[in-house]
Amino acid sequence: MIGYNTMYEKKYEYEQLPQSPRWAQESAYNRLRTYGSTRVRVTRLPVIVGTFIFSAMMFVYFTGTAPTISHTLAPPPPPANVHLLIPASGKDENLCKAIVGAAILGYPSPKVLNWGKTFNDEHLVSGGSHIAKISGVSSYLGSLLPEQDEDLIVMTDGYDTWFQLRPETLIQRYFDINQRANERIRRDLGDHVVNTNKIEQKIVFSAQKRCWPWSADAAPCYAVPNSTLPEDIFGPDTDTDVGDRNPYLKFRPRYLNSGVVVGTAGAMRLLFAEALTRAKKDPNFGSDQNIFGSIFGDQEVYREVVRQRDMPWIERQHNLRSENPRRSLIQDKDLEAVKNMTRSMEFGIGLDYEGSISLPTVFSEDDTEWVNFDNQPWLDFFNYKRNIDKTESRLFLAQDIARTAAPLYSNGTDGIEPRDWSQVSLFTNVPTGFTPAIIHHNAHRDGMKNLRTKVWDKIWFQPYARVLMDQYMDTPLTALAVAGGREWRSSDEWKGGVRDDVGQWLSYQDVCSGTEDEIFRDGKGPWLASRHV
Ligand SMILES: *[C@@H]1O[C@H](CO)[C@@H](O)[C@H](O)[C@H]1NC(C)=O
Ligand SMILES: *[C@@H]1O[C@H](CO)[C@@H](O)[C@H](O)[C@H]1NC(C)=O
Ligand SMILES: *[C@@H]1O[C@H](CO)[C@@H](O)[C@H](O)[C@H]1NC(C)=O
Repeated sequence: MIGYNTMYEKKYEYEQLPQSPRWAQESAYNRLRTYGSTRVRVTRLPVIVGTFIFSAMMFVYFTGTAPTISHTLAPPPPPANVHLLIPASGKDENLCKAIVGAAILGYPSPKVLNWGKTFNDEHLVSGGSHIAKISGVSSYLGSLLPEQDEDLIVMTDGYDTWFQLRPETLIQRYFDINQRANERIRRDLGDHVVNTNKIEQKIVFSAQKRCWPWSADAAPCYAVPNSTLPEDIFGPDTDTDVGDRNPYLKFRPRYLNSGVVVGTAGAMRLLFAEALTRAKKDPNFGSDQNIFGSIFGDQEVYREVVRQRDMPWIERQHNLRSENPRRSLIQDKDLEAVKNMTRSMEFGIGLDYEGSISLPTVFSEDDTEWVNFDNQPWLDFFNYKRNIDKTESRLFLAQDIARTAAPLYSNGTDGIEPRDWSQVSLFTNVPTGFTPAIIHHNAHRDGMKNLRTKVWDKIWFQPYARVLMDQYMDTPLTALAVAGGREWRSSDEWKGGVRDDVGQWLSYQDVCSGTEDEIFRDGKGPWLASRHV
């Protein structure tokens, strides 16, 4: 999948190559490993051909029949499901904004976990709501069969996330992010270490600009990978403190934010089991972000532990001679602590540095605009405001958005004026050019939480939300996407509501009645899913 995201990162690496002294010093050996893809392909070809001939011979030997090509090609993997999990315990207009957006865009009907629970255990932080997020998701994952391990889980916070782009875009970006990350991991750790320890990124959390809640010398802050965004993405001051109003403004997102996460059911089950163990051990852990961030920090330390342990002899010689940046990166006390843990700390966690799956608004308050990509004067203005030269502009509509079904179309009598993606306003990061599939409204500076009300009418579907909900109910279910080599379907065949922890169906009215004035802002009263059955 060569999306424009891929080209983005490739371009960055290419530009880095001649400038960076570390690259220049690197041995021919390493450069071959990194950039010698043609060479690798050539040397592997005889192996592939040999394997093919050998398999064919074995096939004839064991079955007595000559194989046809179709026998030897693996069948495509069967379709798998996407599950949308939203932990939320009670009625709230902010929850309904997530539910309505998800429906209009065609996401699976959400599982609203912890529904109806109250959190008043005075021995626990926030009455136990943080631990409940972990235990609620954990028991949902536990209810899935092992055959569903490749299903995709999309989990978002309940009260401050808005869906903006179609599930197809989100799913393709998830696979694209992992593919690029897995290439980086192989480059950093070497094939042997990666294969021996089955290291593969399968979980993508949001990334944020500030390391929170640890001090800078803790593993979740210093040991985690650097951002993959260009080093000058926010201008010459990138990654420097620019003063008191928003000291983190110019930092590239590098740290885990637990508001939005996408991963396979199998990988997420292992991660949430570890999180639950930690939460129970230390009931005053603060927040789920604290737990997931700590696990991510330990994973990165663990990767260095296994790299030093499993590095092949030849690479070990190479590593001793040249300065491998990883060697001195991890503090001895952290290496020792993780070695002391008797279980694997590899969970396949990585981050969405570009904010293409989700953008947490905190510390990005001044980076974003509501952008109509067909409106050049405004695009110019948004760049101008930030001293971004026209020639450096990253504001163009991404292909992985443009090729999904148009946002607005008419059935002929519903009064909707058809529009394509360049004609609707999309919340976009101006310096990076990325339009997130999900907006995570966690900015709180200067009372910014009220943006969840103040800018609700800016999201492209809000003015038409009621009719688009009707359209959604009248449209048959289709596959969500084809990505990662298979077809993706909704985990639920029902529409117009949600399911609770025990799988019981709750209609839109059950969950969102009383919020219509704010959600639809048309004074037309309740929206009834039952009208459509
Ligand atoms: C991040 O980049 C800095 C500067 O290039 C480097 O010193 C540091 O080791 C890198 N950290 C990681 C985790 O790779
Ligand atoms: C690791 O285990 C050893 C032996 O039990 C112990 O002495 C040491 O303090 C532990 N180190 C850490 C960082 O936990
Ligand atoms: C078009 O949509 C409107 C509003 O949902 C509905 O009332 C009408 O029956 C639909 N018309 C057709 C032809 O499906």
